Amino acid sequence: MIASLRRFREACEDARRSGRGVAFVPTMGSLHQGHGRLLTQARHDVGPAGLVALSIFVNPLQFSPQEDLNRYPRPLPRDLAVARSLGCDVAFTPQEADMYPRGRPAVTVDPGPLGERMEGRSRPGHFRGVLTVVAKLFSLAGPCSAYFGEKDAQQLALVRRMVQDLDLPVMVVSCPIVREIDGLALSSRNAYLDPEDRRAAPVLFDALSTAASLARGGERRGDVLRAEMAKRIGAEPRARLDYVAIVDDETWEDVAEMTGPARALVAARFGPARLIDNLVLPWDAQKTLREVQNASGGHAGSA
Ligand code: PAJ
Repeated sequence: MIASLRRFREACEDARRSGRGVAFVPTMGSLHQGHGRLLTQARHDVGPAGLVALSIFVNPLQFSPQEDLNRYPRPLPRDLAVARSLGCDVAFTPQEADMYPRGRPAVTVDPGPLGERMEGRSRPGHFRGVLTVVAKLFSLAGPCSAYFGEKDAQQLALVRRMVQDLDLPVMVVSCPIVREIDGLALSSRNAYLDPEDRRAAPVLFDALSTAASLARGGERRGDVLRAEMAKRIGAEPRARLDYVAIVDDETWEDVAEMTGPARALVAARFGPARLIDNLVLPWDAQKTLREVQNASGGHAGSA
């Protein structure tokens, strides 16, 4: 375990100097199998000789004053044991006073327009806090591959965009969502669910699956898909819907009519827990091509 920023930077530099790749997994701890998936992928990619580095830091900058910063779970000894058992070489566990020695930083990363929507609209300032800490962590880790889960798909898209726009020497790798058997996406915040809310929470995945099966059946209208998801969640009395969205998976623009791969996203509260989830909607490019060809008498696309 390394708490010092300087020692973490040196550990990553030393690895690179001796020809070992660095695979970095940023987290806020309270590790579960979703984080485990990132660590396993990191080890796989960097090989047995590479350096797998994990950070555990509950970043106050990304929590608004009403949010759960103080009660966010921090089971550090257990996390360190889990990290070790998954072959992690370095666990970086900085203190707030070391990450932000002058208090809240005056210079921060502006997430741009995507940072204002969905999670950004519900949690003002959240993505500025996320990107600022991720930029700091990337600066300490140096050139590396960095692992992020699709669970936080908007965060992943913004981190990718930051890396591109600021030319950071980081290769972002995404990992699929790890779910419970009933579809609930693993999350540190699932610990806040009482038994009744836990029973109700898979309605998020049910709603996403409903949108996916409608899309598979040929439904393309964004409004219809959004309305069906909202209806499904509205039927669960313990869920308080925050938003449903269908966005283009490339541009993240709201979809009026699906013309390519799209992603469905949801956020809802169950008691004290605010949960998010998302799913890529099936897109059959061949089927679309056939439809276009049929509509134009079989000549579409021919030169
Ligand atoms: P945290 O919520 O701890 O998540 C760390 C990483 O684990 C994120 O990339 C997240 O998408 C991924 N993850 C969480 N649950 C997952 C699941 N069920 N399946 C797959 N991956 C999952 O996200 C953060 O921390 C912070 O915002 C951070 C990036 C560390 C910046 O503070």
